[in-house]
Amino acid sequence: MNRPQKTILHVVGARPNYMKIAPLMDALKSVPGLRQVLVNTGQHYDEAMAKGFIRELSLPMPDRDLEVGSATHAVQTGNVMIRFEQVCLDERPDLVVVVGDVNSTMAATLVAAKLLIPVAHVEAGLRSNDRTMPEEINRIVTDRLADLLLTPSPDGNDNLLREGVPAERIHLVGNIMIDTLYRHLPLATLDRVADRVTIRDGEYAVLTLHRPSNVDVPGTFRGILTAIAAIAAEMPVVFPVHPRTQARVKEFGLGELLKDVQVTGPLGYIDFLSLTSHAKLVLTDSGGLQEESTALGIPCLTLRENTERPVTVSQGTNAIVGTKTADIIAGYRAAVSGRVEKRRPDLWDGQTARRVAAILQRFLFG
Ligand code: UD1
Repeated sequence: MNRPQKTILHVVGARPNYMKIAPLMDALKSVPGLRQVLVNTGQHYDEAMAKGFIRELSLPMPDRDLEVGSATHAVQTGNVMIRFEQVCLDERPDLVVVVGDVNSTMAATLVAAKLLIPVAHVEAGLRSNDRTMPEEINRIVTDRLADLLLTPSPDGNDNLLREGVPAERIHLVGNIMIDTLYRHLPLATLDRVADRVTIRDGEYAVLTLHRPSNVDVPGTFRGILTAIAAIAAEMPVVFPVHPRTQARVKEFGLGELLKDVQVTGPLGYIDFLSLTSHAKLVLTDSGGLQEESTALGIPCLTLRENTERPVTVSQGTNAIVGTKTADIIAGYRAAVSGRVEKRRPDLWDGQTARRVAAILQRFLFG
């Protein structure tokens, strides 16, 4: 019988994971003697947050669904660990691949490391140096335990070396999410979203917000939306709302500030790319969107005090404006009046999955 020689277990769980695993599974599919198993933790479970992405990005249907759902950090992380351990025992993988910095990433890494299964972390080395962000804890723990650290930009290498990670474990591969972006860009046309928003090419702003530090704190959230209301008086603003954010708008009674904003539910990957790629401006607290704006050459205002992706500022289109009303409005004025230089960080070239695949293949087969 022709038995597979090696098994890779890929872990996805939350919306920003799917676009990172999809190009990698594709790049690895023709490797002889390699079996790929896709595990979906179910951290995100809404159609618009998870299943829709799997279909759109041509990921295979997950082989295992852990269905952990939403909960406190400890409960969510614990449930992923308990269920993922059983998957590892059943599948006995030779390598576990994790991406990004969500709770599922850290939970799967902890399990694999304790079972002595090697871990590859794609998007390693990013640091905001802000431990109030749950993702920062996830990054630190994941990188401490991973055997292969695949970084999107040189700052990632610097951070890991500073933390004492041996240089031979670190590989600068570029940004894998940008592979997915380039692949789908030709499909991203405004007519896809014309039934939900009224906008003209290059003449509107896109807003996303979901960080607990922004939307769970009433004063901060109100300050941000006050700035958005001022911007919406001058330029159409489209706001696809994350479920967490939707709940807080209601809870804090902030709906009035959104009366001139074009609010939609969470969008699928290509619909959202249609919006961002034709926008004048992006305002966000998301990590991935800072990178996508840079790849698209569209100015991005980051509504946070820091970023774990400094390359989007030094070599991209991103500006960190914070969360105060006046600062956001000032950032908006500067962005719409100035000319933004279109720069693209090295190795954000759509070929990252190929580089990662080559490294994993060497690791597994020598
Ligand atoms: C998670 C990640 C974050 C990532 C974001 C992208 C962590 C710590 N955070 O944050 O890094 O940027 O995903 O979206 O892993 N909910 C639904 N349906 C869903 C999923 C969530 O309604 O399919 C609601 C629930 O009310 C839930 C809340 O959103 O309590 C938050 O979900 P959770 O997965 O805990 O974190 P995110 O804020 O989505």
